[in-house]
Amino acid sequence: MDDATFERARALFFEGNALLQAGDWQAAEARFEASLALVPGRASTLLNLGAARVAGGRHAAALSVLEQALEVAPADLDAWSYKAAALAGLGRHAEALACHDHVLGSAPERAPNWLRRGQALQALERPAEALDAYARALTLDPTLAPAWSQRGDILRDAGRLAEAAKAYEQALAHGADPVLNGYYLAATTGRGAPPSAPVQYVEPFFDEYADTFEQHLVDALDYRAPQRLVERLAGGARHRWRSALDLGCGTGLCGPLLRPLADRLHGVDLSGRMLERARARGVYDALVQAEIGAHLAGSTERHDLVVAADVFIYIGDLDPVIAGAARVLDAGGTLAFTVEATAAAATFQLLPSLRYAHARTTCGLWVEATASTSRCWPVRPCATTRAARSRGSTRCGGAGMRRSAEPCRPPPLGEARA
Ligand SMILES: C[S@@+](CC[C@H](N)C(=O)[O-])C[C@H]1O[C@@H](n2cnc3c(N)ncnc32)[C@H](O)[C@@H]1O
Repeated sequence: MDDATFERARALFFEGNALLQAGDWQAAEARFEASLALVPGRASTLLNLGAARVAGGRHAAALSVLEQALEVAPADLDAWSYKAAALAGLGRHAEALACHDHVLGSAPERAPNWLRRGQALQALERPAEALDAYARALTLDPTLAPAWSQRGDILRDAGRLAEAAKAYEQALAHGADPVLNGYYLAATTGRGAPPSAPVQYVEPFFDEYADTFEQHLVDALDYRAPQRLVERLAGGARHRWRSALDLGCGTGLCGPLLRPLADRLHGVDLSGRMLERARARGVYDALVQAEIGAHLAGSTERHDLVVAADVFIYIGDLDPVIAGAARVLDAGGTLAFTVEATAAAATFQLLPSLRYAHARTTCGLWVEATASTSRCWPVRPCATTRAARSRGSTRCGGAGMRRSAEPCRPPPLGEARA
């Protein structure tokens, strides 16, 4: 190889590093690939290409180059760490755990690997061991905010609310996402709940949940909210709706039940992956990815039926949503929804499960208040239908559902290297 080729490959490699550090993983990936085309098989370029692909969520492609990097440099701990990140991204948490153990076997001082080890254990439903891993991470680096936050999750799930609150406070003090961690803290202390679950919590949660949602909720937890809601709606009598809007339609479980009752059926949801599943049913005339409040405020459509099955558990203050529903409903239209009821005096309460519960009395007041408005649309609240949901847990079972306190990102290891 001539010097000019080598220098060009080197320049591309450094450009790639700068782009990766600037967060432009796509451009970085292209530079590393071009560099490898000129000088194949360099471990550092393969590693940084793997890091760029992990950053871009291209985990399978990342894994393949990281394995090549490890063939060239089997002792490279950063390559092992990124391989673990790629495996975790592919849901291969046991293998990711083994990679972290390999790293920690020779470098037990690496706090980020303890953190990722904890995340792998959490994904494998081994919370006690995950807690130990977070403790090791935090001993090495007490400023590691995600470790505090994920520690908080485990403690909250275990009902150790005071300890969980302290962990979230530490996470916040060390720069964790204030909206997300403020929400978790409020759920844990019962104080300072925001009016609704943050979008940045709901959207990734349901994107990740989409593949297992029905299997978990319907099969394992006997979820029946859509059936109960639609049964009450029909009230035994045959009624045909001109246009129905399914708020928070999710994977579209209400769709097949509403379709025979409605000339037109629309759905709205925040989660693109849940909507993909709803679309695959082929029963909705239109599906929109949007936040419910924003959608209701901006929609030019009119409906005579709006339903929300198991959605208001993510919205505490229902007044704006109900006003929004009134905006899109014809006079005499119907809004039907389920809530998780609480005996508490407050209008709504954010529970440690990260779900909102609503006071029964308030539900009754909505009926009265809305029935006496000039628009006169009856609200028929349904009682909670969530009895089977696992109490207090936000990790939805063995099907791989996990709520990370922080979105899973590649480990902050292995600075792009020269
Ligand atoms: C528990 S699922 C219920 C889905 C569906 N209604 C059913 O009964 O199967 C809740 C859905 O509400 C959506 N959601 C929650 N809050 C939302 C919001 N503020 N705007 C739009 N969608 C929301 C979630 O993305 C999720 O798909």
